[in-house]
Amino acid sequence: MSGPLLTVENLTKHYPLGAGFLKKPFSVVKAVEDVSFSVEAGETLCIVGESGCGKSTVARLLMRLVEPTGGRVLIDGTDIADLKKQALRAFRRRMQMVFQDPYSSLNPRLTAGQIITEPVENFERLSRKPRNALAADLLQKVGMSPEMMHRLPSELSGGQRQRLGIARALSLKPALIIADEAVSALDVSVQAQILNLLVDLQQQMGIAFVFISHDLGVVEHIAHRVAVMYLGRIVELAPSEALFAKPVHPYTEALIAAAPVPDPTRVRLEAPVEGEAPSPINPPSGCAFHPRCPLAVERCRIDVPPLVPMADGRVVACHVRAPAREIPVQPDVAANISATPVSAVSKQSIY
Ligand SMILES: Nc1ncnc2c1ncn2[C@@H]1O[C@H](COP(=O)(O)OP(=O)(O)O)[C@@H](O)[C@H]1O
Ligand code: SF4
Ligand SMILES: [Mg+2]
Repeated sequence: MSGPLLTVENLTKHYPLGAGFLKKPFSVVKAVEDVSFSVEAGETLCIVGESGCGKSTVARLLMRLVEPTGGRVLIDGTDIADLKKQALRAFRRRMQMVFQDPYSSLNPRLTAGQIITEPVENFERLSRKPRNALAADLLQKVGMSPEMMHRLPSELSGGQRQRLGIARALSLKPALIIADEAVSALDVSVQAQILNLLVDLQQQMGIAFVFISHDLGVVEHIAHRVAVMYLGRIVELAPSEALFAKPVHPYTEALIAAAPVPDPTRVRLEAPVEGEAPSPINPPSGCAFHPRCPLAVERCRIDVPPLVPMADGRVVACHVRAPAREIPVQPDVAANISATPVSAVSKQSIY
């Protein structure tokens, strides 16, 4: 198949807030603003940024759980907004989601076996024997014993519940899994196990991941490419090695500087950069990062910086670090910036 598995073009989501006193005009939460990227089959694209920057909204837009205000999402070149009945069902099989809190996303009354075979049973009825065989196979794929199929979620550890969430996502053999803060609620050592599991599954099954996290330290060893979001926009999108070796956008730089060292006794920083993150209801003019940016110049308060392609294959939106010399990059160019081939990720290198 030619072309990317997933293409996101100029995706925008504004949430209108109710009319206030004396019918004052609606205000709008600009949750996602003009976001473009692509994901190849078998690739891991990580989306990182502080809480509230629009990561989960991007995930919901990709899954078609909310409608975009603008822009589009294409799977294998087909706009998901155009999909009807049968095609939509097929699409739902190709894209699955893993959530942050497996406990609240798993039905507490169903056994592990029922939970992970449920998506398949939405498509075809299974009798007991093939259902149990499928459950055993899926549990083994995520490193759990088949005997666990009889347990309830409350009888499993946090790490096991997250493995269960992954097994359920795998059950329909998806081409793409969207994992939204999938390891954020777990201890550091369990995080590393789950990340290793995702890398293994990718190598075995060729699954692509959109892996969302507020923690750059977590994504370093599984990302092929990283998109850094700030207040609804992508400010830097780069091959992972290049991004960590030399961040270009001042916000990426601050995030990397604040990423915790691999020491479980060290506290993770909640606010990686100085100052409060501004509100997406009334974002700062020009570059939204300017009130917190040590490099800000006058122009930063006025003009939104365009994403500019750099020589090493990344795109960066910064007037100072990536000045637009000629024509700024078009969104469709940004969407098609391809991954530099990344060899298998070393499991040992995680933490
Ligand atoms: N349904 C909604 N209605 C209004 N505002 C929303 C809604 N969902 C998200 N938001 C707002 O959009 C912004 C981005 O939210 P979200 O995508 O959840 O960010 P993240 O996942 O990066 O923490 C936040 O300011 C959030 O409050
Ligand atoms: S455009 Fe200006 S404010 Fe924004 S990151 Fe670059 S230097 Fe800082
Ligand atoms: Mg979120």
